[in-house]
Amino acid sequence: MKATAPKKIGVLTGGGDAPGLNAVIRAIVKAATGRYGWEVVGIEEGFEGLLHESPIRRLTPDDVRGLLPRGGSILGCTNKGHFGIQTSDGRIIKDESAFSEAMRRFNELDLDAMVVVGGEGSLRIAWELYRMGMPIVGVPKTIDNDIAETDLTFGFYTALQFATEAIDRLHTTAESHNRVIVVEVMGRHTGWIALESGIAGGADVILIPEVPFYLGKAAAKVMERDARGCRFSIIVVAEGAAASGGAEVYLEAGGMDRPARLGGIGEIVASNITRLTGKETRVVVLGHLQRGGSPTALDRTLASCYGTAAITAIAEGKFGHMVAYRNREIGTVEIELAVSRLKVVPANSYLIGVARDLGISLAGEQD
Ligand code: F6P
Repeated sequence: MKATAPKKIGVLTGGGDAPGLNAVIRAIVKAATGRYGWEVVGIEEGFEGLLHESPIRRLTPDDVRGLLPRGGSILGCTNKGHFGIQTSDGRIIKDESAFSEAMRRFNELDLDAMVVVGGEGSLRIAWELYRMGMPIVGVPKTIDNDIAETDLTFGFYTALQFATEAIDRLHTTAESHNRVIVVEVMGRHTGWIALESGIAGGADVILIPEVPFYLGKAAAKVMERDARGCRFSIIVVAEGAAASGGAEVYLEAGGMDRPARLGGIGEIVASNITRLTGKETRVVVLGHLQRGGSPTALDRTLASCYGTAAITAIAEGKFGHMVAYRNREIGTVEIELAVSRLKVVPANSYLIGVARDLGISLAGEQD
């Protein structure tokens, strides 16, 4: 840090995109320039932009005009890069040379502070760089809502809204054909999107990673509905859900450009439901539709709060911290704490109780 107040702030958006990234960038620029007269520059393609002499974009209030409703990130995102190397057994090890090159470039650009907007992976990189001396403030982002120490990440409610609308639409066609429709949603190793969209959309079965499922119980729920004349069912399954005693399902990798990704559990559930019930099934994978498009009002507001709070955190010298929303207040927490664990759906979650009270089966041991 320079002895004087920070004047030149870098911002980057790391990892996969999420609706609201542009709203964060807009808020950062407006607060930094308007409140303090600081300069903001954008680093393109996440941390990768710190590794080469890529153009650094100065961002003025004019540059961020009209960004609030726009999905994606004007700075670009990447979730494959040089900061972690995947070993043959799937472990990620740190590529030291990328970290030292990022430090060198940060100093060369004469930046006073960096705002890193990212999910778990990007925040881990941010924590390492902070420990190496880079003054960093983090902003939590992911549609999965799985970052610890914050009640919410922006992007989540937009994904949830989309998934709920999809389930609404699938209801009418499932009912017309007396089919079971299995809807596979995102969420990696946590079931927030599945659980909340399943409740909001009125699913009959919700399968989440936190509750290992029994296919026989999911099939029993379908048959119980059939017996009382509801001859269709909707099953929402999180991409990371797994049968009791089974493992997460991954799509086949296709070389460096197509690493193995979660996906395919929907097909497995559907074929087994057909086998166990004799009913016709269809699978809908919502995929990246959940990540695209315009952020909802809540995500725009949250993103705006986070962007301005990041500037406040820099002004207060709270480096190594991430802005967070907890108990209806915006504050900061140490990045190290936020990346120390994933925020999973707790077994005693109020929402799980709500789902069960509504007659939704989680097909787990207790159902
Ligand atoms: O973490 C957000 C997320 O959308 C996950 O839900 C999903 O598994 C993953 O990113 C997919 O990422 P990509 O297709 O960009 O590799």
